Amino acid sequence: DPLRRVAVVGSGNWGSTIAKIVGTNITKFNTFENEIRMYVYEEMVDGRKLTDIINQEHENVKYLPGHKFPPNVVAYPDVIEAVKDADILLFILPHQFVERTCHAIKSHVKKTAFAVSFSKGFYVSKDKSVDLLSTVISRLLEIPCYVLMGANIASEVAAGKFCEATIGSRNYEHGQLVKGLIQTDEFRLVIKPDTEVIEVLGALKNIVAVAAGFSDGLGFGDNTKAAVIRLGLKEMVKFCEEFFPGHHPQIFLESCGVADLVTTCYGGRNRKVAAAFVKTGKDIKTLEEEMLNGQKLQGPDAAAEVQEWLKEKGQANKFPLFVAVHEICERRLEPKALIDALRHHPEFW
Ligand code: NAD
Ligand code: 13P
Repeated sequence: DPLRRVAVVGSGNWGSTIAKIVGTNITKFNTFENEIRMYVYEEMVDGRKLTDIINQEHENVKYLPGHKFPPNVVAYPDVIEAVKDADILLFILPHQFVERTCHAIKSHVKKTAFAVSFSKGFYVSKDKSVDLLSTVISRLLEIPCYVLMGANIASEVAAGKFCEATIGSRNYEHGQLVKGLIQTDEFRLVIKPDTEVIEVLGALKNIVAVAAGFSDGLGFGDNTKAAVIRLGLKEMVKFCEEFFPGHHPQIFLESCGVADLVTTCYGGRNRKVAAAFVKTGKDIKTLEEEMLNGQKLQGPDAAAEVQEWLKEKGQANKFPLFVAVHEICERRLEPKALIDALRHHPEFW
């Protein structure tokens, strides 16, 4: 049999971290090509192409500075070249770019391949219907798509600080393969079958993290943030119960649930930018550009996507925290309206 290939689609903070891990792990398999092709959205950094820097210095100096790739991770500026021979496609793009990237590669992907999505967010089509990203990937590429979500601030994972994540797969063989490629002594993985809910939790927690940032920016303390986390978690659970019934309730206690919510509400980019939004009065897009050096926020867009979803289903009144985050980001409400949304939450009726 020919050796199988893994491609990493995306090379931001998390994409580069996963490429580093898989590049190291893959040399232990004799059924895989050692080379990992990593799609890099080309840009100039200090007068040089980012792909050249990565291929010569084995470091993504822009999105994951201070961490070296093993030399078998090779940057490709052409996404079709990166994926065309791949058997496993690890999709690690900011969620805003997933659909257009799938369109670009759709007639070039092996029919026997499968994908794993690491992206946190939803996809809203032109007719305003909302889909899971894994559904979009699967539909456009005509291959199965699993997910990996968890409490994983990328720079900490890249530094080998212990953490865990959840793989969503109902296919035993594929789930085990993904686990084998990604798990390390410092990054422990659990496979669960509730793929849709695992993905939804990853998207929703970023909305709660924006609320946590507003709370911090307003000068509230740890008790308030704990209330944001608890009421946010309640809305996450409610959303899954309403729209994805049939999952195991224990899924909320996995890394993709409560753990990812906690880490993002303390250490994430969404929290950081949302706090600055309150303190500086600048808009979200400006702060993203000023503070994140090309990295992308997922929470404000996810809040807009969830708003579309709730409008379509007529259920917005059950999710006041999610709704308040969107209205505040859009400046239709003042940041302090977040506290009113908490104060009058259906929890207290
Ligand atoms: P990032 O925000 O660090 O980087 C942005 C990336 O987008 C860069 O690679 C940039 O080159 C690329 N890009 C810019 N314009 C583009 C375009 N038009 N088309 C394609 N790519 C373009 O990215 P990230 O942190 O790797 O995030 C990817 C996904 O992983 C997100 O959904 C995020 O929620 C999720 N995630 C991130 C972390 C983390 O700590 N960074 C952890 C877990 C999950
Ligand atoms: P931020 O995008 O808010 O940094 O969150 C990263 C993350 O998803 C951690 O699991």
